[in-house]
Amino acid sequence: MNALTPLPGLPAAFPPPMGLIAELTHRCPLQCPYCSNPLALESASAELDTENWLRVLDEAAALGVLQCHFTGGEPMARRDLTALVRRAAEGGMYTNLITSGVTLDDRAMAALKDAGIDHIQLSFQDIDPAENDRVGNHAGAFVKKRAAIDRIRGAGLPLTLNFVIQRHNAGRVGAMLDFAEAMQAERVEIAHVQYYGWGLKNRAALLPTRAQLDDSTDVVEAARVRLRGKMVIDYVVPDYHASRPKSCMGGWAQRFINISPSGKCLPCHAAETLPGFDFPSVRTHSLAEVWESEAFRRYRGTDWMPEPCRSCDRRELDWGGCRCEAFALTGDASITDPACELSPDHYLMAEAALESGVASPPFIYRRLKALARV
Ligand code: SF4
Ligand code: FES
Repeated sequence: MNALTPLPGLPAAFPPPMGLIAELTHRCPLQCPYCSNPLALESASAELDTENWLRVLDEAAALGVLQCHFTGGEPMARRDLTALVRRAAEGGMYTNLITSGVTLDDRAMAALKDAGIDHIQLSFQDIDPAENDRVGNHAGAFVKKRAAIDRIRGAGLPLTLNFVIQRHNAGRVGAMLDFAEAMQAERVEIAHVQYYGWGLKNRAALLPTRAQLDDSTDVVEAARVRLRGKMVIDYVVPDYHASRPKSCMGGWAQRFINISPSGKCLPCHAAETLPGFDFPSVRTHSLAEVWESEAFRRYRGTDWMPEPCRSCDRRELDWGGCRCEAFALTGDASITDPACELSPDHYLMAEAALESGVASPPFIYRRLKALARV
């Protein structure tokens, strides 16, 4: 069955995606050991050119996509970023830049503002500057990020700060929230590492203990009460200590199209880890065709579900959890996510969680050979 063959028994069309996740490049000045990019990073020479990205953005607007998230790697490594932001904004999409901030200088900020960027999401590796720089393996990163906040605030743009939580910084969640409040961020994400790709490779070095997770949850809940109406706090926990899975990406191919730097279309950033798929490319297919392709329809909705999901009253809340996590832990993407305690494979999560109690091995940093600009 090729990528565009309709599956029997499914409606011909599905409501359009809410968001386009444009992974413009895998190049990045940072080397975080939990990067959501695949282990096999795409090189600069494989990246889609400007003309193709502009066409994709036009197609997204025509399809009814509401939000365009420019991400990477570091999307600011693309020289054409402002042209792409401008085209997305002209198409009526809400534009969001997800950046490490280390190259967001005055000139770049002015150009993005002029292009019509609506929102910037700035990631931190820690609130402790030395640890921040160690995790990203980039000396001086914290100082540059702090300066980037002032530029974003100076441009009058809404700001989300993103802190990625793992065993080495889980005790500083309170300080992260205090910092976000002091920076007058509209939103802060306290997001525990998700264990796919590089995160899975570094799981033994990153997974927090149950006690660390519980402490961070208590801190977040107290801050949510204190800061209600002032700052939104998003909180993402690791599935390894959960009893039910999260609704990954809002359900497989229900809300997002993720486009890799080379133009491969994926229902989520980790889908390339799944064997037996023929993911369509924007080089050969329109976004409308991609959205109705076999790869996107395979785990959409509930028809694909086995038991215990099939008869579960949460099946339209978490959509059976994460397909990539199910595959990473069991070798089968079509079964209930082992994060669910109703799954017969749930013991695999408990076994892996034991890793959090042993000494941390060194990080395996995410590496790309060269940071060239195009
Ligand atoms: Fe979710 Fe399936 Fe577990 Fe029910 S059985 S909670 S649908 S993962
Ligand atoms: Fe792929 Fe969850 S990351 S479905």
